[in-house]
Amino acid sequence: MGFNNWNSTHCRDEFNEDMIRGVADKLISSGLRDAGYRHINLDDCWADWKRDKNGNLQPNLKRFPHGIKALADYVHERGFAFGLYSSAGTNTCEPHQANRGFPGGLGHEKQDAAYFASVGADYLKYDNCNNQKVPAKERYKAMGEALRATGKPIFYSLCEWGENKAWLWATDPAVGASSWRTTGDISDNYASMLKIFKENVVLDAYAGPGHWNDPDMLEVGNGGMTDVEYRSHFSLWSIMAAPLLIGTDLRKIKPDALEILLNKEVIAVDQDPLGVQGKRVRDTNGVHVIVKPLKDGSRAVAVFNEADAAQDVAVSAKELGLQASAKYRMRDLWKHSDAQGDGSIKLRLEPHATVMYRISAQ
Ligand code: GLA
Repeated sequence: MGFNNWNSTHCRDEFNEDMIRGVADKLISSGLRDAGYRHINLDDCWADWKRDKNGNLQPNLKRFPHGIKALADYVHERGFAFGLYSSAGTNTCEPHQANRGFPGGLGHEKQDAAYFASVGADYLKYDNCNNQKVPAKERYKAMGEALRATGKPIFYSLCEWGENKAWLWATDPAVGASSWRTTGDISDNYASMLKIFKENVVLDAYAGPGHWNDPDMLEVGNGGMTDVEYRSHFSLWSIMAAPLLIGTDLRKIKPDALEILLNKEVIAVDQDPLGVQGKRVRDTNGVHVIVKPLKDGSRAVAVFNEADAAQDVAVSAKELGLQASAKYRMRDLWKHSDAQGDGSIKLRLEPHATVMYRISAQ
């Protein structure tokens, strides 16, 4: 859980030291840090377009006049982990000059990993652009080995967009990935969020503690979806045990969006120590039912209506894997209210809406 600037800034000038410091401060004052958002990750365009005379990466000093180490220190001093970005290619993804991206890690793995460790990076997002068609596993293994050789624990986040089905090989200890993107890039609209959800939800078998499917970062707060849709986005990512990386400029966030990101009961589902990605048990007429077993023996359930019209939905206890006729406490994780029930759910779901329950035996 944490923050990454990409969804809100891409490579615009507003991605700079002031922003990242301001976001760190806001994470603290808003209560988000204490709710679990502990990473602050920089995306593409943090680096200068050329390496220094020793071949090392160096920051773009226009954006980060005090350098990257000073920014990492600022972030660490406030209780956060710090993340950087590169690509498993000759250049990163964002075209810079003559359509070239910034320097990538391919062939520079040891030197770049040593640089990441030296500035205090705790996380690396490693993209897939300009990969010169070198097989993905080979490229991601080279950086994985180099990161481990630094001796510093660094969360290794693969970003090959599911092109090479990273979930099939990224957990090989030689690669040692902590997470892998399962899809292309998310955009701040309902259709994009829906598409990505559908691609990621079927991959539940591959996720588990320490190795996660990553359906890309959150758009909550960026303005392109309704609050109902953002609540669905947040609910679905959480029931899928996805990384929760805030992608909005928190310095400007509106109260409604902040409330979504601060929903501790939904966050607890995402972060549950059992580490299981929810399994979809129903996908009919645009109604999706996803069930996630939790460490304390209870179950989280998300019921999502993808359709543009309201629908009446009935889900039996059996469908949720619960014993019928038992008594359950049904905790509504958005209304924050309790009801007693038999484990079945009956309700009318508004278009694009999701309800979420935590169901436990009485
Ligand atoms: C790719 C990644 C995005 C982002 C950009 C940066 O598109 O998938 O998440 O990192 O590159 O250029």
